Amino acid sequence: MDKMQDVIKLLEEYHQEHIIKWMDKLDDESKRKLVEQIKNIDLHQIVELYETTRKEIEIKENKIEAIKYLDKEKINPIEKERLDDLAENVIKKSQYAVVTMAGGQGTRLEHPGPKGTFKLDVYGKGKYLFEILAENLKEANNKYDVIIPWYIMTSRENNDETYNFLEKHNYFGYDKDNVILFKQGELPILDMNGKLMIDKNGFIKEASDGNGGVFTSLRTSGALADMKERGIKWIFIGGVDNVLLKMCDTTLLGMAIDKNVEVASKSVVKANPHEKVGVFCKMNNHPKVIEYSELPEKMAEEVDSNGELKYGESHIMCNLFTIDAIEKVSKEPLIYHYAIKKNSYLDEDGKEVIPLEPNSYKFEAFIFDAFEFFDDIAILRGKREDDFAPVKNKEGVDSPKTAKELYEKFWERNKNVLVNAS
Ligand code: UD1
Repeated sequence: MDKMQDVIKLLEEYHQEHIIKWMDKLDDESKRKLVEQIKNIDLHQIVELYETTRKEIEIKENKIEAIKYLDKEKINPIEKERLDDLAENVIKKSQYAVVTMAGGQGTRLEHPGPKGTFKLDVYGKGKYLFEILAENLKEANNKYDVIIPWYIMTSRENNDETYNFLEKHNYFGYDKDNVILFKQGELPILDMNGKLMIDKNGFIKEASDGNGGVFTSLRTSGALADMKERGIKWIFIGGVDNVLLKMCDTTLLGMAIDKNVEVASKSVVKANPHEKVGVFCKMNNHPKVIEYSELPEKMAEEVDSNGELKYGESHIMCNLFTIDAIEKVSKEPLIYHYAIKKNSYLDEDGKEVIPLEPNSYKFEAFIFDAFEFFDDIAILRGKREDDFAPVKNKEGVDSPKTAKELYEKFWERNKNVLVNAS
């Protein structure tokens, strides 16, 4: 009962009285569960998040510079071999782990399930996105005679489905003991007045807290401790939806070791000023990615003296961190970005409302906001046709159709070649 009174006081303090009214309509068991949920929500943080939606995004251009990178294609063979050797040494000592972020909703793709369970129509039979990733890792395992631990970040919503899918497909031949699922965190959705919403099960409506939640959830889930126990030193973190993602690029890892940095990332040249990718830059001398949704038009189109896009190094979700870097960032608060989205909810009479227009704020941390906590980052420019074939939209750009074409062309060019270290 005390708990209930505490929660009621908090809801009053943070102007969420409608939730108290809602609680009054519930039976004891439902009320108890709702109170438990609210106790785990930081209402102070929620108010602060709502306040961010009232402010303009501010990017002071005078503090922004283009970022330096190493072009993989231009590294001479001897130097490349030296970098690859540095990396192979780490991988062969079983000090390398991979994280796949698969907690997203994949709304744009309109696939009714976790994105990794989407089957791309390649070579007639088709391949699931998880299968394509597993193949890439298995190839590295064979090459270096190790089993790379594969951590998969899911969400509350898709964890069970992801687990059942992987079980059903026998982890696509991956050693099951080395596939570790962990769940990412969540944050409440707020209506346009900063009020909590009720979901169709009568609870506070929450959603995944964005891929930037990966660091905290690695720590709180125990995955980071597991990595430490295994003696892992370097962790690759990638998305689930790029069918040309190379998760063990030895040149990327070798370059990071060689430059003595804690973070490295692979980029490709932006296809056009308005491509929906984040772009690298330096802001106040720290590495940064500005997301496509927040990049001012002028910056997007700015060219350098060679006529190339000044902010043309695209973030393709191909990131590498030392374990210490992950530990450090997991304890730092990343900023939250918001998006205005359509979200159904229960009204005060318990009737489901399905909005026709966007009606709510969803808050997300972005993985690359972690870069700002470091003085430097090493960027390796890869090649679009070798490294980037995302499956984002149902049709048009970055769709299954474009990804299939890129994937099949890549494998046509690389028949019988081990690609991880190419
Ligand atoms: C993302 C990047 C963008 C980059 C592009 C390349 C962010 C914020 N943006 O954009 O800079 O240029 O990929 O393809 O990272 N995910 C979770 N949990 C979440 C949200 C997302 O695990 O809460 C995962 C998704 O499953 C996916 C990845 O993060 O694997 C990318 O997320 P998505 O929301 O699709 O980002 P994009 O808008 O495509």
